[in-house]
Amino acid sequence: MTDSTIRLSDYRPYPFEIDQVELRFCLAPQATRVHARLTISPSEAGHPLRLDGEELRLISARIDGAALTGSDYLLSKTGLTIHPAALPEGRFTLETEVEIAPESNTALEGLYMSKGMYCTQCEAEGFRKITFYPDRPDVMAPFRVRIEGAQPVLLSNGNPVASGDGWAEWDDPWPKPAYLFALVAGDLREVAGEFTTMEGRKVHLGIWVREGDEDRCDFALEALIRSMEWDEAVWGRAYDLDIFNLVAVDDFNMGAMENKGLNIFNSKLVLASPETATDLDYERIEAVIGHEYFHNWTGNRITCRDWFQLCLKEGLTVYRDQSFTADVRKGAVKRIDDVMALRARQFREDQGPLAHPVRPDAYIEINNFYTATVYEKGAELIGMLRTLIGDAAWERGKSLYFDRHDGQACTIEDWLSVFEAASGRDLAQFKRWYTDAGTPRLIWSESWQDGRFTLTFRQSTAPTPGQPDKAPRVIPIRVALLRANGGEALPEQVLELTEARQSFTFDGLAARPVPSVLRGLSAPVMLEAEADTPDHRAFLFAHDTDPFNRWEAGRALAREALEALAQGAAPSTARPFIDAFGALLADPAPEPSFRALCLALPGDDEIGKSLFDKGITPDPQAIHAARMALTRALGEAHEPALTRLYADNALDGAFSPAAEDAGKRALRLACLRYLTALDGGALALAHFEAATNMTDQIGALGLLIAAGKGAAPSAAFYERFKGDRLVMDKWFMAEVAYAPPETAPERAAELAAHPLFDWKNPNRFRALLGGLAANQAGFHRADGAGYRFYADWLIRLDPLNPQTAARMSTAFETWARFDADRQAKIRAELHRISTLEGLSRDLSEMTARLLG
Ligand code: TRP
Ligand code: ZN
Repeated sequence: MTDSTIRLSDYRPYPFEIDQVELRFCLAPQATRVHARLTISPSEAGHPLRLDGEELRLISARIDGAALTGSDYLLSKTGLTIHPAALPEGRFTLETEVEIAPESNTALEGLYMSKGMYCTQCEAEGFRKITFYPDRPDVMAPFRVRIEGAQPVLLSNGNPVASGDGWAEWDDPWPKPAYLFALVAGDLREVAGEFTTMEGRKVHLGIWVREGDEDRCDFALEALIRSMEWDEAVWGRAYDLDIFNLVAVDDFNMGAMENKGLNIFNSKLVLASPETATDLDYERIEAVIGHEYFHNWTGNRITCRDWFQLCLKEGLTVYRDQSFTADVRKGAVKRIDDVMALRARQFREDQGPLAHPVRPDAYIEINNFYTATVYEKGAELIGMLRTLIGDAAWERGKSLYFDRHDGQACTIEDWLSVFEAASGRDLAQFKRWYTDAGTPRLIWSESWQDGRFTLTFRQSTAPTPGQPDKAPRVIPIRVALLRANGGEALPEQVLELTEARQSFTFDGLAARPVPSVLRGLSAPVMLEAEADTPDHRAFLFAHDTDPFNRWEAGRALAREALEALAQGAAPSTARPFIDAFGALLADPAPEPSFRALCLALPGDDEIGKSLFDKGITPDPQAIHAARMALTRALGEAHEPALTRLYADNALDGAFSPAAEDAGKRALRLACLRYLTALDGGALALAHFEAATNMTDQIGALGLLIAAGKGAAPSAAFYERFKGDRLVMDKWFMAEVAYAPPETAPERAAELAAHPLFDWKNPNRFRALLGGLAANQAGFHRADGAGYRFYADWLIRLDPLNPQTAARMSTAFETWARFDADRQAKIRAELHRISTLEGLSRDLSEMTARLLG
C-alpha cells in the first residue's frame, strides 16, 4: 500500500485533552460561519497542536484571546498545526472562525443541504469539514452548541437549554467524539411521543419530518419505544437524556446515524404506510431504529479508540438489533434471513479481492470499511463468543463491560478481556476471528462402528489479500443426533473444534443416528460434507428438529438441483428437490413465514458462488435459465397444492405490518411465483390489481415484469406513485432488476435518461445501479454492456459523491469467478476508472483492491 495508508500499529494517544467545546453556527447556504471555542489542556508538554480541517476557509484563530500570527501555525489541505512555542503551558482556549458552503456540499459528509434543510453527517471523518478539531474517536468532550438561522426548527445533540426567534442553544453533558456531533435546521414537522425509563426519567421523543410526511411516522415511533423497552429489559440499559430526536432526510449516504440524542435517518428507514412500504421496509425500519438507539450505549457511551476498532460498536450493535428483531418477531425466520444476508454479502466479500479482517489493520479511506465483514461478521463473532462461554458468563461479561468501560474509547482487546475475566477462559485463539480474514471451510464426515458414532471435522481457510497462512480457529459447532424414525437420539450440544482436524465420539446409541450439524450456523463457516446424499438432505428437510437446519437442507437440495441444471443436466436431476418441495407444501405444521422461505429458490449470485467454490466457472445466463426452468417444473408438479396454499392464506380486514400477516403475504407471493410460470401472469395481474398494500403490489409487479407482462401494470404503477420519491425508488429498481436479462442494460440506460432519475440522490442512484447489479444475468451479459454502463455512472458520480460511488463499486468484486472474456471486460472497466485523473481517494482505493 501507499504512504497514505493508515495503520493500526501507528496508533498514538492524542497529546491534548479537550475539556469543553462551544460551537456557534450562523447558517447560510453559501457562507455558513462556524465559530469554535475549545478549552484545551496538554497531557504532555512539547507537542504541536494538530487539528484536522478540510475545505474550510479560515477567518481567524486566537489563543486566550490573542490572534495567531503567520509564524505560529501551519495551514494545509488537511488541517491546522500550531507550533508548540505558540501554546501556553497549561490549559488554554483556542477560538477559530471558519466559513463553509453547505449548499455546494454534494458529498453529503460534513454540513450539507437536502431539500432546503441543513443537516450533518460526521462519521467517520466529516467533522473536519465543519471546523478545525482533533477529528478522532478517542478525543471525547462535552459540546455546547448555538445555532443561528432563519429555519423554524434548530436541533443539535443533548438537551435544549434556551431558544428565541432565529436561534437555539443545546447542551450535551455526555462527553463524545466529534463523529457523534449533529445539527439539523429546517422547516420540519414533529410527531411527538413520550417514554419513561426504568430509572424514572421522563423522555420526550420527537420524530422530525418534512411537511406531508407526518402521517407516515407512527410505526417508527412505536419501533423506537419498543427498542427502548427492549434495551432496558434485556440489556439493563436506560436512556440518559431528557429528549431523543430522530430526523428523516432524503439525501443520505447510508441507512442512519446514531448521533447522540439526535439520530439522523435516511427517510426510507423512517416513513411507512401500508400503501407505500413493504413488509420488508417495516421490518428494516424497526431494526434500524433499534440499531441506532442501541448505539447510545454500544458506540456512544462506550466508543472506539480508533477506526480500526469499528466492529467494537458495529458488530455488537448489529448483534443487538438482530436479537431485538428475533425477540419481537419470529426468531427462527430472523436467523435464516440474517444468514442469507451474511452469505450473500459477507461470504462473497470474504472470498474476493476485498476480503479483510473484522478488525482491519490498515486502510486508506475508512469509509470503505463500513462493510458486511465489520458489521455482519462482527455480529456473528459476538454470537459465537456467547455460544463458547455460555449464557451465565455472557451475562457477567456484559455487565462488566459497561461497569469497566463506560465513558471510554475502547479496543477489541478491552472487549475480549472483559469476557476472559467473566468466563475464566483464554480467548487468544478466539481473537483470530478478529484478525484473520477469510471464511473457513469446514468439512465433516461420520462413521458408525460397534455402537460408536464418530463425527470428524477438518477446517481450512484459503489465503486472503496480505494473509497467506491461516492458523486453525476455535469453531463452536452446535450438533444434535436425530433418530432415523424422527426425534432426537442426542439433544443439541456444542462441540468445540480447536484443531485443523478433530473427531468427536458418541456412545450409548441404540442405532445409527442422522447428524444435524452446525445448527443455526453456529459459526460463520462454509460447511461441506465429505459424502452427503440427497437422501440425508431430504430427511433433514422433513424431520430436523432445528428449523434453521431444516431450511438449510432444503436450500442445499435446491442449490444442487440448480447447479446441475445450469451445467446441462437432465431435468430429472431435480427430482429429489421437487419431491421434497411437495412434501413441504403438504405439511401444514410450519408457520407461513417459514414455509415462504423454504419455497424460495436461491438467487443467481448464490448459485454462481456455489459453482465457483466447486471449481466450475459459472455461466450467468445458464444459471438464470436453470432457475426459470426449475420454477416452471415446480409449478407443474405441484399446481393444485400451490393454488390451495395461495387461496388459504388470503387476508382480509385491516392491514397489519406484524410478522403474522407479513408471513402470509410472503407465502402467497412465493406460491404466485410458480403459478405465474404456468399461467404467464394472469393471476399475478389479478393480484396486482386487487392489491391494497405495497408488498402485494410491488411483489406482483416484479413477477409481471419478469414474465414480460409488465408494460401496462408498470405504467399504471408509475402514474399512481410518480409523486412519491420512496415508491419511485422501488419502481426504478424493479424495472431493471426484473427486466429480461437480454435487455436489462438497455432498460437501465433508458431509465438513466428518465426525468425522475435524480442521480445525485443516493437512494435513486442505488435503485437503478443496484437494480442492474441484482439482475445478474443482465449485468454480466457477455458483450459487457452492463459493465460499461455501470462503470460510466461510477465515473460520473465519483467527483460529487465519492463515498457512494466507492460503495457501489463492490458490484465488481466477483470478477474472478467468471470466464476469461468477462474477467477481461470487468478488469478493463476497473482499469479505466482507476486511471482517471482526479479520482477520489475512496474509489481509487477500491479499484486498486479490486484489481489486486
Ligand atoms: N454508524 C452508522 C451506523 O452503523 C453508519 C454510518 C457510518 C453512516 N458512516 C456513515 C451513516 C455515513 C451515514 C453516513 O448506524
Ligand atoms: Zn451502527
